[in-house]
Amino acid sequence: MKILGIETSCDETGVAVYDPHGGILAEGLYSQLDLHARFGGVVPELASRDHVARLVPMVRDVLAEAGLELTGLDGIAYTAGPGLVGALMVGGSLATGLAMGLGKPVIPVHHMEAHLLAAMLEDDPPSFPFIALLVSGGHSLLVETRGLGEYAILGETLDDAAGEAFDKVARLLSLPYPGGPPLAALAERGDPDAFRFPRPMLRKGLNFSFSGLKTAVRLALERSVGNGGALSEQLRADVAASFQAAAVETLVVKCLRACAETGLDRLVIAGGVGANVRLRRQLRTRGEERGITVHYPRQSLCTDNGAMIALTGWRRRHEAADSTAIIARPRWPLDELQPPPASAPRLN
Ligand code: KG4
Ligand code: ZN
Repeated sequence: MKILGIETSCDETGVAVYDPHGGILAEGLYSQLDLHARFGGVVPELASRDHVARLVPMVRDVLAEAGLELTGLDGIAYTAGPGLVGALMVGGSLATGLAMGLGKPVIPVHHMEAHLLAAMLEDDPPSFPFIALLVSGGHSLLVETRGLGEYAILGETLDDAAGEAFDKVARLLSLPYPGGPPLAALAERGDPDAFRFPRPMLRKGLNFSFSGLKTAVRLALERSVGNGGALSEQLRADVAASFQAAAVETLVVKCLRACAETGLDRLVIAGGVGANVRLRRQLRTRGEERGITVHYPRQSLCTDNGAMIALTGWRRRHEAADSTAIIARPRWPLDELQPPPASAPRLN
């Protein structure tokens, strides 16, 4: 089975060929970061147009790298949501058109389910059940994952997503977008205990809230500027380190609590914030103390990519659409997904 995966839900064009026996045979990724940078966020119309320009050549290149003709594919999976509707339509249209022309199945995939399964592309894949922490620029979710399509959302953010909090605080520190990586780099030179920023909702429950933390950072910066004019480099680093410590501690405590409350001892991290080194280190040590195994996909599988779409398409191949409708669902709650019917092959 060779499945082509197409990802165009936001500002990354991702294409990959996945084979359940051979793994990822070839992949391509183009990030539109530079295109949107001067606007401080993703401009939907520009994103769609750029997907149109990049997608067909990328599919061609990825197939060539895999040594395949279009006719060698067994199915085509695409991100059907959630995401920007125009951007989703680009991938959906190409996937559906190709599938019609080739007479192959086309499989619409849920983007967040794909993130949740991405760790299964690694050599040491987690098996069900597990707790998943999905932390990106748009989402912060804790999901009890019992099997394919068996998702219970245990916690989510009440305001900003984790990545959004990193981005907004980075902006306060005059760092470029997306702010997570430069903020983490600046934090390396700072003292995480210099400021005691709030850890909202730390003591109870599994939901997150990051906007109070961001406000506390803004006030601390305003106070410092008020006292002495320009911010010293050391003070900026201390603020970055103290913010990162607070955000990471919140995520770690909630993950461990979710494991304790469900009795699960496997934790899977996904999404761009999963690249954060302090988060990885703390989860590993504090998880291990409690007998919890932590799985991180490599960084390129944490962020948006075509391989996770192809993998999910393969696992959902029983749902191959027999209609020619292009599905694009900007909003699509993860817990609306269903497990495969009993007649479909069970996979772990
Ligand atoms: O999953 P992702 O690549 O894209 C979506 O949002 O869908 O996540 C991007 C987010 C951004 O907010 C970025 O600042 C954050 O992940 N991020 C990080 C790090 N690397 C990326 N946040 C904290 N530490 C990092 N090392
Ligand atoms: Zn994503």
